[in-house]
Amino acid sequence: MKSFLILFVFIFLAQTAYGQKFSKTPNFKELNEKIIIPKCLMCHNDEYAARQVYLVTYEDVKSFTVAGKPEASLLLEVVGPGAQPRMPMKAAPLNTEEMAYIRAWITGNTPE
Ligand code: HEC
Repeated sequence: MKSFLILFVFIFLAQTAYGQKFSKTPNFKELNEKIIIPKCLMCHNDEYAARQVYLVTYEDVKSFTVAGKPEASLLLEVVGPGAQPRMPMKAAPLNTEEMAYIRAWITGNTPE
């Protein structure tokens, strides 16, 4: 029982620490460095853009959003659990913090 409690506390602390990976004010620079470049750009760059989807510049990424409306934004839809195929393709899904960050960025009108 005690070990369960210790495990629980450990998971809680680990998640809390992980949750601080992103700043509280979403912006494109951070989105790009922490999500788009490491998890999307290899398939959506200038030389190879799967399905003609370019995610190279701020304008590119912004074009897959509807400012202020995360539910209407393809950028959020394609990383969600119901997406067919889900992005990033052939890789682990984005975690809760990453999805929340994308959502917050769109809700805040996609600041640069
Ligand atoms: C391993 C390659 C790969 C990675 C990594 C990848 N994609 Fe894709 N992406 C594809 C392919 C292939 C398609 C076309 C899929 C299809 O239409 O069947 C696609 C399609 C898309 C589309 C268009 C979907 C539509 O319905 O028109 C968007 C938007 C997209 N990707 C965004 C992203 C985002 C955002 C990431 C990172 C979180 C990402 N992709 C990571 C390969 C990738």
